[in-house]
Amino acid sequence: MANIDNKALYNIGYGLYVITSNDGVKHNGMICNTVIQLTGTPLTVGVTINKSNYTCDIVQSTGIMNVNLLTESAPFSIFEKYGFSSGRDVNKFENTVYTLSENGLTVLNEYINSYMSLKVKQSIDLGTHVMFICDVTEAEVINNDPSMTYAYYHKNVKPKPAAKTAAPSSDAPRGYMCKICGYVYEGHPLPEDFVCPLCKHPASDFEPVE
Ligand SMILES: Cc1cc2nc3c(=O)[nH]c(=O)nc-3n(C[C@H](O)[C@H](O)[C@H](O)COP(=O)(O)O)c2cc1C
Repeated sequence: MANIDNKALYNIGYGLYVITSNDGVKHNGMICNTVIQLTGTPLTVGVTINKSNYTCDIVQSTGIMNVNLLTESAPFSIFEKYGFSSGRDVNKFENTVYTLSENGLTVLNEYINSYMSLKVKQSIDLGTHVMFICDVTEAEVINNDPSMTYAYYHKNVKPKPAAKTAAPSSDAPRGYMCKICGYVYEGHPLPEDFVCPLCKHPASDFEPVE
């Protein structure tokens, strides 16, 4: 049977984005890597969002979102703020200075080089995720700073695994680290259906740590 090496997918040239939305009471934002231009005429963009994310509920009910295109200058704290907690529990824009685009949604004041406003024209249920196919209603370039890629994030932004402190007592790893956000699951084995409590990535995105 043909082999499927998940690592091949890491070589897809993703970017990283903050998707902003508003639930009618407060602004919200989440980190996303699954943004792609689909067609040029009309100009459409696809965004894939996990159903467990509050942003998915908001976009399903409001039909609009902004994509903030992060630059290499974005620190890990931006990923923690928008990617490791949910707008269901916290107000991620409290104490944050932002601008509003014409659709009334937030545009980040730093760490982005462009933004675009999207209006959902079609939603595709993918089981765990919803893919939103959207028209672009506004788009602006703010500066020419290089965009943050997923590869750059893995290499330069996310924390490195903690150094080994003692010789392992057995062949079993001490735990497993999420390659996306650095969260460490203490114990062995990692349950097959484990989902990272911080960034919601699956067990296949974890690697053993000694
Ligand atoms: C590097 C990184 C990439 C992510 N990519 C996506 C993605 O493409 N789609 C998605 O639904 N969630 C993605 N997430 C997870 C969400 O950002 C995270 O679950 C967030 O807390 C959801 O916030 P919300 O509940 O306020 O919407 C990513 C997180 C990180 C750290």
